[in-house]
Amino acid sequence: MKKITKRIAAKNNTLHKLVKKYGSDKIKSGYVDFYNHLFEPTRDEVKTVLEIGIGTTVPHAKSSMYDYSINNSYKPGASLRAWRDYFPNAHIYGGDIQLDTQFQEEHITTFLFDSRNGNECETALGDLTFDIIIDDGNHDEMSQVRTMYNLIRRVNPGGFYIIEDITPGNFTPVYKQVIPFALLSKTDLNTTTHNSELRFTYSQITTNVTVDIYILQPHENLLVLKL
Ligand SMILES: C[S@@+](CC[C@H](N)C(=O)[O-])C[C@H]1O[C@@H](n2cnc3c(N)ncnc32)[C@H](O)[C@@H]1O
Repeated sequence: MKKITKRIAAKNNTLHKLVKKYGSDKIKSGYVDFYNHLFEPTRDEVKTVLEIGIGTTVPHAKSSMYDYSINNSYKPGASLRAWRDYFPNAHIYGGDIQLDTQFQEEHITTFLFDSRNGNECETALGDLTFDIIIDDGNHDEMSQVRTMYNLIRRVNPGGFYIIEDITPGNFTPVYKQVIPFALLSKTDLNTTTHNSELRFTYSQITTNVTVDIYILQPHENLLVLKL
């Protein structure tokens, strides 16, 4: 009873408020308002979310939240907790390479693995599939590509695979090469400019996959694949 009350109450909050409450840096980047817009229509239907990058505070670790945590009351798992409260019917999974990110909490499961390593992903995730996968892990381009290659098959039909902090110019040719191998065989890529956003639309003959790149602020760019 306590659990249900808590989750229904949380559902009345916006994602922005939840992220602020738990202290992730996704507000600063502008991603939160975008996610709210993207996910709000299907918020109740989302059952499983995987985020790569739970938020280590180990100093000097790759993509560490240590600097951010000095002036903000940050602890690992901030975004996982925000997702948990935002999606009332979902179980939230997090994957990270650093040990300090592992914790147990209601509706949240954390795994220790390197998302660049296919075997580690397979061992940790077993036969899990997800409605949403977000890569907020190691933000270098090859890691993002390897992670996508390892995980994209786990996105349920109609779901999203999202990569935070991409470099659009560099990434375009890379995903163009990788997605077909990772997911599909025949591809057809169209590029258009839509208002101030550069949009890439990717379609396939039997399956429609859209690829959008959202340039929210300089250096804050999202790759959004809808499967
Ligand atoms: C920016 S933090 C994630 C912040 C968190 N999503 C939040 O918003 O609260 C990035 C995390 O990615 C993890 N990471 C870096 N490389 C990784 C890899 N190859 N596989 C899994 N996690 C990785 C880091 O240890 C770090 O905890």
